[in-house]
Amino acid sequence: MCGIAGYIGFRRADEVIISALKRLEYRGYDSWGIAVKHGNEIRLIKRVGAIGDAKAYNVADGNLGVGHTRWATHGKPSEINAHPHTDCSGKIAVVHNGIISNFQSLREELENRGHEFKSETDTEVIAHLIEENYGGDLKEAVEKAVSRLRGSYALVTLHAERDELVAARYKSPLVLGVGDEEWIIASDVPAILDYTSRVVYLEDGDLVVLRRNGFEIWSGGKKIERRAETIPWSIEDAEKGGYEHFMLKEIHETPRVIEDTLFEYLSEDIEIDVSFSAGISEVVFIACGTSYHASLIGKYLIEKLTGIPVRVEFASEFIYHQPPLHRALAIAITQSGETADTLEAMRIAKKLGARTLAIVNVLGSTATRIADHVLYTRAGPEISVAATKSFIAQLIVLYLIALKLSGMPGSDVNRLIDELRIMPELVRKILGREDEIRQTAERLATFENMMYIGRGIGVPIAMEGALKMKEISYIHAEAYPAGELKHGPFALLGKKTPVIASLIPDETYEIMLNNIKEVKARESIVVAVAEEDDREVEKYVDHVIRVPKTEHIFTAVTHSIALQLLAYYTARKRGCEIDKPRNLAKSVTVE
Ligand code: AGP
Repeated sequence: MCGIAGYIGFRRADEVIISALKRLEYRGYDSWGIAVKHGNEIRLIKRVGAIGDAKAYNVADGNLGVGHTRWATHGKPSEINAHPHTDCSGKIAVVHNGIISNFQSLREELENRGHEFKSETDTEVIAHLIEENYGGDLKEAVEKAVSRLRGSYALVTLHAERDELVAARYKSPLVLGVGDEEWIIASDVPAILDYTSRVVYLEDGDLVVLRRNGFEIWSGGKKIERRAETIPWSIEDAEKGGYEHFMLKEIHETPRVIEDTLFEYLSEDIEIDVSFSAGISEVVFIACGTSYHASLIGKYLIEKLTGIPVRVEFASEFIYHQPPLHRALAIAITQSGETADTLEAMRIAKKLGARTLAIVNVLGSTATRIADHVLYTRAGPEISVAATKSFIAQLIVLYLIALKLSGMPGSDVNRLIDELRIMPELVRKILGREDEIRQTAERLATFENMMYIGRGIGVPIAMEGALKMKEISYIHAEAYPAGELKHGPFALLGKKTPVIASLIPDETYEIMLNNIKEVKARESIVVAVAEEDDREVEKYVDHVIRVPKTEHIFTAVTHSIALQLLAYYTARKRGCEIDKPRNLAKSVTVE
């Protein structure tokens, strides 16, 4: 999850790198550092804390450098453990994102050959391996060094006596920004958007040499070409746009995200090539976190609309049981396309014989290169750690897949598609009720525990609503099928545990209303999310969050928007660091 930036061009490297790393800062880092080539020396600074506090540090007058913001995986947050790391000679500096799984044995080997280590990090072994293999050709030295590494790495290195940067990636993201006579290499797109919108997505095994007159990409010992793509995101897309937090901005972007995603796949008909489903006997979703909850809704939709059996697996658990997947379609849902657990589960699913489809938000991310088929969600950059608009975009793609594969009469499909087309308007209505939701949220902000309940499609809605509340307000929010409460969780209810109930206008409505009455009898405060014309529910609950009437399968969108706002305003009232929650990262690129 670390942030990386390297620069070579005509500007001051320290200024470019600080501004680039600040664009990546949203991931909650604990330390940072910059190395700049100055003459035949390396000038280096390292600091603990967030780079957002950095003024325009004057590292050195040089226009070639590397920088890093660290999310600690090996070695506590400290200046000595901050990157860049250097070799014994002090002539080589390296920044790295990923985990070197064999670093201990490499460190012992290097120490036995006289190398002295300063830090506790895995990264430092890379600097010493490059030093050992350096005979004047930095690319060759990096090539030999990375051949010894196991695990994952995105690294950028410089040598004090060479006017070039060398970078390499394996199972950790790295993108190359192609400017006019300047090049920026970084771990994520927002870092380069101030300087260029042309980007080359590097692939696993790529090694890049950046010089003032251009760059070379090598793979498997051969020089190769990779096409530069133009990123459609302007820099303000990655800015807050006047909202207090990225999360609120991104929730408010949802109507456009739905429109953009529908535009991508829906004209007169659903323009999704579903050949990936030909001859399959089952669907297996693999995902993590919010994407896992999208998968649960995907299961509900596909089983209900197509009759195809569906399993949903936590990607991090999938590796422990590997059923044969012949005639299975494995669908990986991942916003970042870089979640290590999901990528590993995809690789295993392929080995087990599955056809793979990835539903991804980030153009060119690793998941898009592992999968046999890719469907992009058009959510744009999602900066806040909490997934909001990207989750809704995932649902839109899942609705279209389920509708395309359903055996329903065309008239029914068209009715549902027409409802989907007005979804942006329905979401705008909910956003228009934001202040009512804020008032309800502020009444919940003093509690330390909550229970989210639902039935049918209301269960994954409740699970996702609870995750939002957990991850940004730090309130312990659990989600349970309402029918399960009597098998234990009732013991938790009472004045100190408010209950958030998703009331879906389908066959579960009546029994859900009974569950709400049972909960109310245990003195919990009850907040119901219900349709705007439901006059019954208000007799039994303390607060109602109203959402527009829609087909029951689309309540996953309307209820989730309401619950995202509920979590946001609860966390805001509690003064939480909403966009960068403690201990979390936007893309979990380590297993
Ligand atoms: C959701 O709000 C969290 N940020 C987290 O659970 C996230 O959904 C999970 O890490 C999966 O990320 P991905 O979709 O990028 O794979």
